[in-house]
Amino acid sequence: MEIVKKKFGSGFDGTPVDIITISNSSGITMQCMSYGASLVSLQMPGRDGSAEDIVLGFDRFDDYLKPHPYVGATVGRVAGRISRGQFSLGGKTYNLEQNDGHNHLHGGRTGFDKVIWTPHIYGDGEEAGVLFRRESPDGEENYPGKLSAVVNYALNERNELSIRYSAETTKPTPINLTNHTYWNLGGGKESILNHKLRINSNHYLPVDEHNVPMGEILNTDGTPMDFSHARLIGRDIKLVPGGYDHCYVLPEAETRLRPAAILNHPESGRTMEVYTTQPGLQLYTANQLRDIVGKNGVHYGKHSGVCLQTMHYPDSVNQPEFPSVILRPKEEYLQETVYRFSIR
Ligand code: BGC
Repeated sequence: MEIVKKKFGSGFDGTPVDIITISNSSGITMQCMSYGASLVSLQMPGRDGSAEDIVLGFDRFDDYLKPHPYVGATVGRVAGRISRGQFSLGGKTYNLEQNDGHNHLHGGRTGFDKVIWTPHIYGDGEEAGVLFRRESPDGEENYPGKLSAVVNYALNERNELSIRYSAETTKPTPINLTNHTYWNLGGGKESILNHKLRINSNHYLPVDEHNVPMGEILNTDGTPMDFSHARLIGRDIKLVPGGYDHCYVLPEAETRLRPAAILNHPESGRTMEVYTTQPGLQLYTANQLRDIVGKNGVHYGKHSGVCLQTMHYPDSVNQPEFPSVILRPKEEYLQETVYRFSIR
């Protein structure tokens, strides 16, 4: 394993932003950076041996400071929508920024994706990684409690990238961290409609006209939402108004890692298995992505990438029947997602 830390740029206030490059001996090289604790690139060989970068992003750091839809970033304090930007906890009502119509989305105006984290690199024979730390102050974006969070990216010789999340709080607070990488296993030149996807679930959360779960859990059998057997993402996408932007309910929500999804690019053979401890997987087919100039001058648009966001269900703070997202003092928040790469 090899690991190198370098300066990538500076934040708005001049704070340096580091980029960390980690490689293993089978040709996988990943980069992540301290701005947004974001995944910047992941180079992986295909069947013909040629390596491609399979995550969308930008060549220059300054492009990450311009508006973009959470490309590669860690999303928090609460990923997904909070209806009307409101929730009650301990008898108090909290009003959050409504940055998505009437909803609060992905932590608000200055979420975890737009702050600089402090990196600490480590490495030994089997695994090399980086721990990104930050303290989210009490009241940040109106959330209660000082939250100390760590996001750990790690690559190993078994071609697995792990992202491990941990956090502690000084007051009860909702927390739902995820990663917002747009994957494109073909290297980003064509849309992801030609990727095959299987999700380890046949249940999803239907949403209302504001994209907020309605509280029901529906079966996917025989519908365009069904990915319980591998099928092309593009096969039925036209039958889903707007495209896929739905949370799948993963079986056996508990704290152990279990299979969540497999994404495959038939032409190159590049395959990514996703394992997670989280109860849900938000499938988002970049429906709103529009004309952004990304790496190597490639224009990203609708369906240029696919996000497989392992997380708790959106709007859980307002839906008592969903698994709780409340973290209390003296408890430890722990979640992990593993992305395993292979050629099939
Ligand atoms: C959400 C989409 C949203 C997108 C923003 C996704 O996680 O599910 O509804 O438009 O993030 O990039």
